[in-house]
Amino acid sequence: MANRVPTGYTIRELSPRTLPDFETLAVKQGGCWCIFYQRTKPLRRGTTSEQWKRKNRKDKRKLVREGRSHAILVYDGKTAIGWCQYGGRNELPRIDARRTYRKAAPPVGAGKLWRITCFFVDPKYRGRGVAKFALKAALESIRKQGGGTVEAYPVASAKMAAVPEWRWFGTPDMFRKEGFRTVASLGTSGVLMRKTIAP
Ligand SMILES: CC(C)(COP(=O)(O)OP(=O)(O)OC[C@H]1O[C@@H](n2cnc3c(N)ncnc32)[C@H](O)[C@@H]1OP(=O)(O)O)[C@@H](O)C(=O)NCCC(=O)NCCS
Repeated sequence: MANRVPTGYTIRELSPRTLPDFETLAVKQGGCWCIFYQRTKPLRRGTTSEQWKRKNRKDKRKLVREGRSHAILVYDGKTAIGWCQYGGRNELPRIDARRTYRKAAPPVGAGKLWRITCFFVDPKYRGRGVAKFALKAALESIRKQGGGTVEAYPVASAKMAAVPEWRWFGTPDMFRKEGFRTVASLGTSGVLMRKTIAP
């Protein structure tokens, strides 16, 4: 069931049922299908751009059908206009391969570790709070699923943050407004932010 919200937009979880809506939007994004952080390692060398897109799409479909891919989709009417991908550590393992993360991330206490890795908003709808709305909904969904520690990895470099394509992790401000605190620096471009959510 979709939830009505004050902005007039609605939200739904990514699921086999909403997969076609996600796919329509994902095509506008270009072909990454937000699967990068779901793979433990990169695809083999020599993969062409077309092969890469097809494989991403196929693998993403499989993950969604198996219930191993989570995201909040934001709708304007029947059209998906943005998403926020979230998931448990096991669903988004690639973060653990990031050297700066392994070096800098403080240990996490008891409870589930969640990650927020990717935002995408249809260019026509940007700057209207769609990403912030998706984030709020993702955090609420995490709460309903038992809560725990939630991590985000926004780009902190002003130069990079000025380019929309570099903001797929979101911005530090978005997370600060939701009660996240910076716990470590991730090299020169990013920060690790965390928030604890009680069930
Ligand atoms: C990053 C992105 C998701 C933001 O979506 P959005 O709906 O426009 O964002 P919002 O309106 O909710 O604003 C969220 C925050 O983004 C930042 N932001 C938004 N527009 C911005 C701009 N033009 N310049 C700098 N920061 C901006 C601000 O910090 C803003 O928070 P604030 O209004 O409290 O200051 C969007 O620009 C996007 O989709 N970029 C492409 C990302 C991508 O390629 N993703 C695919 C990865 S696989």
